[in-house]
Amino acid sequence: MENLNQEQAAVAQAQTSENAENKKASRKVFVKTYGCQMNVYDSDRMTDALSNDGYESTDTLEDADLVILNTCHIREKAAEKVYSELGRIRKLKEEKAKDGKDMMVSVAGCVAQAEGGEISRRAPVVDLVVGPQSYHRLPELLKQAKEGQKVVETEFDIEDKFKHLATPSKEAVRKRGVTSFLTVQEGCDKFCTFCVVPYTRGAEVSRSVEQIVGEAKQLAAAGVRELTLLGQNVNGWHGAGADGREWGLGELLFELAKIDGLTRLRYTTSHPRDMDDALIAAHRDLDILMPYLHLPVQSGSDAILKAMNRKHTRDDYFRLIDRIREARSDIAMSGDFIVGFPGETDQDFRDTMDLVERVGYASAFSFKYSPRPGTPGALLEEQIEENVKSDRLAELQALLAHQQQAFNASLVNQRIEVLFEKMGRREGQLAGRSPWLQPVHVNAPAELYGEMATVEIVGSSANSLEGRLI
Ligand code: 5AD
Ligand code: SF4
Repeated sequence: MENLNQEQAAVAQAQTSENAENKKASRKVFVKTYGCQMNVYDSDRMTDALSNDGYESTDTLEDADLVILNTCHIREKAAEKVYSELGRIRKLKEEKAKDGKDMMVSVAGCVAQAEGGEISRRAPVVDLVVGPQSYHRLPELLKQAKEGQKVVETEFDIEDKFKHLATPSKEAVRKRGVTSFLTVQEGCDKFCTFCVVPYTRGAEVSRSVEQIVGEAKQLAAAGVRELTLLGQNVNGWHGAGADGREWGLGELLFELAKIDGLTRLRYTTSHPRDMDDALIAAHRDLDILMPYLHLPVQSGSDAILKAMNRKHTRDDYFRLIDRIREARSDIAMSGDFIVGFPGETDQDFRDTMDLVERVGYASAFSFKYSPRPGTPGALLEEQIEENVKSDRLAELQALLAHQQQAFNASLVNQRIEVLFEKMGRREGQLAGRSPWLQPVHVNAPAELYGEMATVEIVGSSANSLEGRLI
């Protein structure tokens, strides 16, 4: 400031008081996130973009000047849930209007992308519809919406988004804790016949090594200890490496492992066809890469895998898991399953149960097939009856729950490393995660928050472990 002339000083003074004014009159944004981790990450990016515009985030809908619903379209009823939430929000907005207060309403995420302008036609309370590729433009789009137009922005320009993603402040990172997501790729080119992602998130685009390493360093410097790399098809990530060669996710993990301060790396979600040698080598050679792999197979039947356009067989999947387990014997497997895909016979379902028995999962997600408009699966004849889907799902989930419980129980009496990432539910307790992603509850002093500690596991349940500090 010393070198400013009088006129500049006056302008600077005016700007400072304007900033102070903005701060005083700071507006509040409430973001409700549905669906996957990518949406959690995107919600944070939207909050970051808006914080540069004077918005603070709030957990209370009633306090909000701006409400954003960050929606998911992957399975049924997502759009219906959004419309019923919008009904509630409309009433709240009317209440607020009586007190002379305004509230802007925005729908973001995959329902926004899929339904576009239909949303504000059906729910006139919505001021702004914004698809996942345009979040960096939120402040500008909001301004247009405030001028009274209904704004719908569902263009695909993902490269542009990656270039302009808002970076979080150190303070924002600290508030979010010692674990963080980092998107490395978005979109999917696989076109599984049941899935909307290639339509709502578009073609696969990878962020550059510089962008990813830059963001990872920034997060580590702000106190993040565990990074989870995100992508709809995360192991399809590729980019020009620092050594001039084309890298895949394996090479990227080796690079990220060098960053000071990080103690754990994870990634999700992977496709079996993109598990290359370098990625398997990363599991063998990098202690920082946690021994947990979410590798959805969806079905254990070759006929159904074919109809799903997965482009691999059950034997390919078994062979792959053998190679991964050879590289890292303590790796815990996780997966996603769909039951009742069109044409699924009892024998196809038995093949899925058999695959689950043979692989042994530490945790898994399983769903009834839900025909998604616009996907090839929805047009197939031989849709399976609801009650058959329900019975199959119940049987599969019982087996998966049994495996998860057995996996948790196998850790009792063992000593494991836990990263404490939350205050516990009870006084004097901290909650952390095992290398295999299980929540671990431990009586521990608050100073250990954010630290890694050796813990003896003294109890297990369906979903978590109990430990004692050594
Ligand atoms: N019906 C049921 N489950 C689905 N998934 C994706 N699309 C559908 C659908 N149409 C599941 C898959 C995927 C997970 C994220 O959601 O198992 O891996
Ligand atoms: Fe959807 Fe995953 Fe298949 Fe891509 S690989 S189409 S995101 S299920």
